[in-house]
Amino acid sequence: MMSQDTKKPAVKTTGHSWDGIEELSNPLPMWWVWGFYITCAFAFVYWLLYPAWPIGHMYTKGVPGLNTLTYTATSVDGKETQKTTHWNMRSKFMVEMNEHKAAQKQWFDKVASMPFAEVSKDADLMQFVNSAGKTLFSDNCAPCHQAGGQGKIKFSPNLTDDHWQYGGTYEDIHTTLVGGRRGAMPSFKAVLSGEEIVQAANYVLSLSGEPHDAGAAKAGDALFHGKAGCYACHGPDAKGMTAIGSANLTDKIWLWADVQGAKTPEAKLDEVKYVLINGANNGVMPAWGARLKPEQIKLLTVYVHDSLGGGK
Ligand code: HEC
Ligand code: HEC
Repeated sequence: MMSQDTKKPAVKTTGHSWDGIEELSNPLPMWWVWGFYITCAFAFVYWLLYPAWPIGHMYTKGVPGLNTLTYTATSVDGKETQKTTHWNMRSKFMVEMNEHKAAQKQWFDKVASMPFAEVSKDADLMQFVNSAGKTLFSDNCAPCHQAGGQGKIKFSPNLTDDHWQYGGTYEDIHTTLVGGRRGAMPSFKAVLSGEEIVQAANYVLSLSGEPHDAGAAKAGDALFHGKAGCYACHGPDAKGMTAIGSANLTDKIWLWADVQGAKTPEAKLDEVKYVLINGANNGVMPAWGARLKPEQIKLLTVYVHDSLGGGK
């Protein structure tokens, strides 16, 4: 042994020594020992409070009454039930959702109780309208009207412009949302001859300054205000009627005939002819009265009117 040569350490050793290296026997530092005890105590309390140990197909759920969570669950059909469970991530999430909903409710109540125009003047409230409106719109409207509300030709109208087929006042938009809309543009296949359809289509193009055959358009004018009866729905000035959503034919905004998108005069004519031959009544704006809460519809009305487009 070479330990005689080395200086004896001041601390106790275990007596083990290998090639002069001795194993010291220092007591554990107090902070470490206490840390260990506290960890054990923490684990024990944790087992009592939270789901912890697997047993068979189940697990310990914590001692009932020590840590339970109570929350309100809303089913798909809107029924609310109170639930109490042991602590778990799902019920914790539900409790937090309940809290957020309660916080939201104050804002929704405010929207519900104020006239439209007042809501739009309240800057704080409008912040809520914009964020809640964006979410409601993404969840319910964006599938048809697109994420930014810009719509899609031949499918759904643009809600970001100041053109409103069914009227752009708060009340009009509210009526649209509650009851839905379905414009009924009839097919003229059985009413007009092929030549007359071409004439009516030329007249329609002339109304918004598109290239057209002036002679045919003149005959189309007579059909529009006479035999075909277009004026009854679109109005004698062809500006449309918001009550029935008959399109304004004098502007550059189209929904079913893609006149703006068509490159050549022939293609533009074909677009209008297609609508006259087939009608346009497949575009359905669903009714939201039974699907969304009144305060959600009111908030969406303000969102569409003030934040998306130029409401009137
Ligand atoms: C299934 C597709 C679809 C969904 C979903 C939908 N819309 Fe529509 N929406 C339409 C169509 C199509 C029209 C046009 C109806 C017509 O021309 O007769 C329309 C029309 C409208 C109009 C009238 C526009 C005008 O110019 O007068 C408004 C406002 C509107 N939608 C808002 C909404 C909002 C807000 C939501 C969500 C709550 C929504 N829509 C959900 C398809 C949809
Ligand atoms: C019964 C009422 C009615 C009559 C009659 C009628 N329309 Fe329409 N028309 C509508 C409605 C409503 C729409 C909008 C349909 C929609 O958006 O769902 C429409 C849409 C159109 C469009 C498409 C506009 C676009 O934005 O793409 C054209 C073009 C049109 N009508 C032309 C005519 C012409 C021309 C006649 C006569 C030959 C006529 N309409 C007769 C109700 C009518």
